[in-house]
Amino acid sequence: MRRLAAPLALLLASTACTTMEAAPAATSGPVADRMVSPILTSPEAVDSSTHAQPQVARVTHVALDLDLDFDARRVGGVAVLDVLASPGADEIVLDSNGLEIARITDGAGRELAYELGAMVEAGGKGAPLTVQLDGATSLRIAYRAPADASALQWLSAEQTAGGEHPFLFSQGQAILNRTWIPTQDSPGIRQTWEARITAPKPLEVVMSGVRRGEPEDLGNGRRAFTFVMDKPVPPYLIAIAAGDIEFRAIGPRTGVWAEPSVIDRAHAEVADTEAMVVEAEKLYGEYRWGRYDMIVLPPAFPYGGMENPVMTFLTPTFVAGDRSNNGLVAHELAHSWSGNLVTNAVWGDSWLNEGVTTYFENRIVEAVYGKQRAEQEAALMYANILETLAEVGADAPGTALSTDGGYELGSAIAYDKGAFFLRTVENIVGRERFDAWLRQWFDNHAFQPATSEMFYEDMMANLVRGADEAEALMLREWIFEPGLPGNVARPDPAAFAAVDGAVEAYKANGAIPAAYAGWTAAEQMRFLDNLPAELSAGQLAALDTALGLSRTGNNEILFLWLEMALENRYEPAVPQVESFLAEVGRAKFVRPLFAVLWNEGEWGRPIATRIYAETRSGYHAVTRAGVDRVLGRTD
Ligand code: BES
Ligand code: ZN
Repeated sequence: MRRLAAPLALLLASTACTTMEAAPAATSGPVADRMVSPILTSPEAVDSSTHAQPQVARVTHVALDLDLDFDARRVGGVAVLDVLASPGADEIVLDSNGLEIARITDGAGRELAYELGAMVEAGGKGAPLTVQLDGATSLRIAYRAPADASALQWLSAEQTAGGEHPFLFSQGQAILNRTWIPTQDSPGIRQTWEARITAPKPLEVVMSGVRRGEPEDLGNGRRAFTFVMDKPVPPYLIAIAAGDIEFRAIGPRTGVWAEPSVIDRAHAEVADTEAMVVEAEKLYGEYRWGRYDMIVLPPAFPYGGMENPVMTFLTPTFVAGDRSNNGLVAHELAHSWSGNLVTNAVWGDSWLNEGVTTYFENRIVEAVYGKQRAEQEAALMYANILETLAEVGADAPGTALSTDGGYELGSAIAYDKGAFFLRTVENIVGRERFDAWLRQWFDNHAFQPATSEMFYEDMMANLVRGADEAEALMLREWIFEPGLPGNVARPDPAAFAAVDGAVEAYKANGAIPAAYAGWTAAEQMRFLDNLPAELSAGQLAALDTALGLSRTGNNEILFLWLEMALENRYEPAVPQVESFLAEVGRAKFVRPLFAVLWNEGEWGRPIATRIYAETRSGYHAVTRAGVDRVLGRTD
């Protein structure tokens, strides 16, 4: 089973560090009042996917004043940036990907010279926007985002559940925010931010910051919403959504937004969220962001979830009616520590965000839903690691945690191998010591960037006791070498004993398990994952009839069914594949279904081409790029 699509085949290959003098800590003025996190200058912490040179001059605060124009599908307005420059620095370099800059002035309205450098198409790195500072500590940039800004997706009313109002959402990770915000778009350059956003009535606007007061009625059919994020965040975490949405509280500090026709189901699905926050805090310390709200977006959202601070973005496809896909909520919540509090300095270390989060996710699932469910979900992850290693080879360099290849291998390495690394360490040193160590890691690096080397050094300094334990842990092998170290803490084989028996029985005599309907979602997935690759139309029809696969309310299971049906050129599944791909834009589902069709040569390719001609324009840029690659399209 594969989780997560590959948005960035792109980034990295760390370039040599041109270390300049570190920016001095501000000693007075508004900047000093905010926490300015350090810029890491070690070679492995240099982010090759930004044009910024933060050692020379860096952005500390972003103030946006933007209008959402749903007719033109454009965002535009003003961004005011606070700048901290090292002595003698005469320019600052920002990231831009297609931004239309009208004018840049300083705090006093003085015109500042600027230049947009050569565009780096590869990986969406974009162009450097170099501004002459001339002593300025504040830049006022009047600009518009391009019409095709890849962070933004404008949905027509037809693409929403309500069908009456348009919708907008953004997706910043990894390096897409430079298509709508002119700042230094690098995870190691943390910035506080605020925003004033105007939008047409009756749309509501939410952001990854705290909404301030009631919206202001501007009297022209529009309203202005204001937001603040007073904690320094990596800029990929600035996010916005606007649509006909309403809010429903869960607990005192938790709630969910969704379209009116979706809110009941969404609210019921995430009802355990307050309990998850409580358990997460017990594990690894205070939740530091105030509220934890979520928005369930229209199905075009390209990911399962995105950990935007105080406002997790979620796909509606996780709603199954039985909370069985709530590992997703636990995952995005866990990012409030791993990712949002302590952040990978470079994208090649994304396992520090995703692997630590996947481990933490499993601990939350254990605390809220019990050991058995957690162990089953861990066993699915382990199978995913083994499947990927078998496919690409255990010595493939991309299978190291610290690498640039993590996302290319779906979720198996950065997510699942990362989680099994921590699980293995926990297993060796004991849960008590491990939890204390991880908690201090979050506390001591809160609101700061981190690297794999720092993680390793911190374990050596604050966790590992003695040479024997160091040897047993194999830390460097886990982090820096490909493959799966021999000390891995394997999942309990008993987790799926009954299901694995049923798989064997099916293989032996075609017996379809009567117990299936009573199984957990993880058990059902395990069963479907392990069925023989080749199944006849008759076998598929029998499985569908007996197990209700095409009628399941769980999209993870539906996806496995559709995938296995297409792999076997099962015609009756094609109409459902077509309607699924027309509605859902989640890359993890969409890309593999097109890939299977494409692999099915003269049978599948015409189907893929026909469906994609209809659905492509409804997909987010991330999903489109993924499918384009699969189908060999370059336009
Ligand atoms: N931060 C990721 C989503 C992401 C990853 C966006 C890489 C851009 C680049 C998010 O937390 C995530 O991991 N989502 C998963 C959730 C799943 C593993 C529970 C997803 O979308 O499938
Ligand atoms: Zn994640």
